[in-house]
Amino acid sequence: MRTSASHPLGVTVTDVRLEDVGPAEVAGLTDLMATHGVVVLPDQTLDDGQFVELLQRFGELTFTTGETPVDGFPDLNVVSNVGRTTPPRSTFHVDSSYLGRPPAYTALRAVTVPAEGGETVFTDQYRAYETLRPELRERLEGRTITHVVTGLDLTEDDETSAEHPVFRAHPVSGRTTLFLSTPARCVAVSGMSAAESAEVVRELFDHSTREDNTVRHAWSPGDVVMWDNACVLHKADHSGVVGDRVMHRGMVAGGPTRAAAARS
Ligand code: SIN
Repeated sequence: MRTSASHPLGVTVTDVRLEDVGPAEVAGLTDLMATHGVVVLPDQTLDDGQFVELLQRFGELTFTTGETPVDGFPDLNVVSNVGRTTPPRSTFHVDSSYLGRPPAYTALRAVTVPAEGGETVFTDQYRAYETLRPELRERLEGRTITHVVTGLDLTEDDETSAEHPVFRAHPVSGRTTLFLSTPARCVAVSGMSAAESAEVVRELFDHSTREDNTVRHAWSPGDVVMWDNACVLHKADHSGVVGDRVMHRGMVAGGPTRAAAARS
């Protein structure tokens, strides 16, 4: 695959037609996401049916209760500013981290690109771990964070909270990542008081989302972007958007790690 990497994360792949990917390309893209966090695939022409077929090659799809499905494609949801009088709010987060197995991958297909603004911003959670001050890293070794759902109308059958290690081995690369989401969803650090937890989560979040640990993707028509939720946080930047912005989003469910799959 012809690739061009960005700093500190992200890679652009220019010689793949997403309608035609087979097992070798899926394995290649999986490895690129595990290495670079985010894969940008410009100049694509696939429609929603082909987008669903593409994502199914990476695993079973998952849908978040409460999101707006794309007409005729119940596995996809719409992310749109059309008809809104105030811009949507977005802070850095990991999709559905309140699940025991959060989605492995999320993908966006550009449907309508605004005239200005509307970038998606990503953080590098490998680098966030590696650059964490050593005393905090030591203090958090072996601890977990309780992640809860916010802002969605779920049913009583839905999972609403999960505990995840603060530092996790990435299921594909084996490298350690700092796993957290937006502070409102990270309500407790194991073995710490509420006040200590809030202070630590705030420090981890501020550290992860420092400008020098992020990359911004400015959308062009035809772009498809996929990312690995185990090693990035993401947010849409809705400030300064001029014009309609519509994305179709799909998510691939989290599964057993590659190592676990190989053992079974
Ligand atoms: C999301 O938060 O999943 C959507 C990001 C975006 O619209 O850029």
